[in-house]
Amino acid sequence: MKLYQEVILLSAKSKKRRTILDLQAMKARGEKIAVLTAYDYPFARIMDQAGIDVILVGDSVGAVVAGYENTLPVTMQDMIYHTSAVARSAVKSLIVADMPFLSYQVDLAEARRNAGRLIKQGGAHAVKLEGGVRIAETIRAIVAMDIPVVGHVGLTPQSVHRMGGYRVQGREQARADQLLADARSVADAGACAVVLEGIPAKLAAEISAELTIPTIGIGAGVDCDGQVLVIHDILGLCEKYSPKFVKRYADVSGTIRQGIDDYIREVKNGSFPGPEHSF
Ligand code: KIV
Repeated sequence: MKLYQEVILLSAKSKKRRTILDLQAMKARGEKIAVLTAYDYPFARIMDQAGIDVILVGDSVGAVVAGYENTLPVTMQDMIYHTSAVARSAVKSLIVADMPFLSYQVDLAEARRNAGRLIKQGGAHAVKLEGGVRIAETIRAIVAMDIPVVGHVGLTPQSVHRMGGYRVQGREQARADQLLADARSVADAGACAVVLEGIPAKLAAEISAELTIPTIGIGAGVDCDGQVLVIHDILGLCEKYSPKFVKRYADVSGTIRQGIDDYIREVKNGSFPGPEHSF
């Protein structure tokens, strides 16, 4: 093969987008899946270039971007807006969009239409919805439209009022058994992966070993097939609270603050704009 053909082949290969089949194959060969949330064009571009496997456009956007107390006020319109911004910049990562509260719980027709809107108008490749046994029929209905679904069991933020806050789930045996049944029913309904949030590491390991679909953990220990965190949490952009499962990889707030302080000072003292910024 000529050198330039090899180069074309190689670059085509490196541009190939992750699919749900890749995630299955990664689980099968024991390769961990790295997932982060993004809600806009620049963050999605940076993490896509860095090689993140999956970008989750989470309804956590409500808390970390819009400043709501929880994810419940987030609308379909919000999710389509943020998903489409991410989809315009990410060329290699699989894009999963959260179905917001009240977009899939009321009836199946509405759930199917809203899942379809996230694919058609948002540009997502899969949708994620929260719940186990009780939501299995909805997962089945969406999967029947050839829309890949990621499940989400354990600490499900849209159930914050039922849970009485954001608490670790499944510490007691009866609840652990229920969560195992939830994860099984999500997988049986045809989900291509499942997020396990806020559950004991031992239970997450058990679920991950049993299911053939990949498990993506958040506060669920190291034995999940992949990990997901909220980008604002790992970059130190969200000072409101910092759960135990978050590791801070950078302190971007400090850098942003420094830049803004410098700008204000230079505007006030007249050193910006300089001749090089003027026409
Ligand atoms: O909304 C979100 O960001 C999520 C992850 C934290 C799993 O659902």
